[in-house]
Amino acid sequence: MENKITVNEILSLKGKRKLTMLTAYDYPLASLVDKAGIDMILVGDSLANVVLGLDSTTKVGMTEMLHHAKAVSRAVSHALVIGDMPYESYQINPDNSVKNAKRFIEEAKCDCVKLEWFDKCPQVTREIIKAGIPVMGHIGLTPQTADQLGGFKVQGKDAETAKRLIDQAQELEKLGCFAVVLECVPDKIAKIITEKLKIPTIGIGAGVHCDGQVLVIHDMLGLFSRYTPKFVKKYLDLSPLISKAIEDYKSEVIAEKFPGPEHSFSIKEEELKKIKP
Ligand code: KIV
Repeated sequence: MENKITVNEILSLKGKRKLTMLTAYDYPLASLVDKAGIDMILVGDSLANVVLGLDSTTKVGMTEMLHHAKAVSRAVSHALVIGDMPYESYQINPDNSVKNAKRFIEEAKCDCVKLEWFDKCPQVTREIIKAGIPVMGHIGLTPQTADQLGGFKVQGKDAETAKRLIDQAQELEKLGCFAVVLECVPDKIAKIITEKLKIPTIGIGAGVHCDGQVLVIHDMLGLFSRYTPKFVKKYLDLSPLISKAIEDYKSEVIAEKFPGPEHSFSIKEEELKKIKP
């Protein structure tokens, strides 16, 4: 797909049709996601869990994120590419956040960045937007600071915390974010937020009323089985298919069935004779 989608187009689609977003971390999967016409590709810090085998998203840094974001950008001609700012890049030292956001744009050719809500989120968001970089917010369950939220739990289940989420969403809109991810939020609270905002809400575990949806691609393809959150729908169960292919390969190599003549290269008999003793 050609014709690159812009932040303004994403904004203008609110209320017209639902927005689609998936994660990708490498060239082959990003190519397929882009070809399918998905609106936005997030190079998520979920990279830590589903690709690198780490137990927390806080364990990936700029080096890993840029490495994967570059591969995704190379594959994409249509979708908006979003670089997910890792924990170390803005939460540990907020003063480095603009410099790191710029690296996603300049080095990895991303179109914008996403960052999770934390106590200094408004200040950091304001500075990055002031530097001319579009920002997608992320509220609700924010995995980088899940410990402070009582773990990996649905957020906004009582009036007080729900009100806090509504305030955060409105603050992000006021700061100039072009969209906001709502993760693990009751569907009726997501509906209230979606109706209050002019910018699109993108849900993950936040029900059908959001303006768009996002899933981690390894979850929806059945490529990650360590745990599966309730909000994941597996559109495919790839792991057993891959395991079967690997087992077939192993058996055929041992049984000398692979490679067959169709996978081998030949040499003319007269040439062979010249080197045979
Ligand atoms: O890193 C990620 O995959 C995300 C999505 C869950 C929104 O932040």
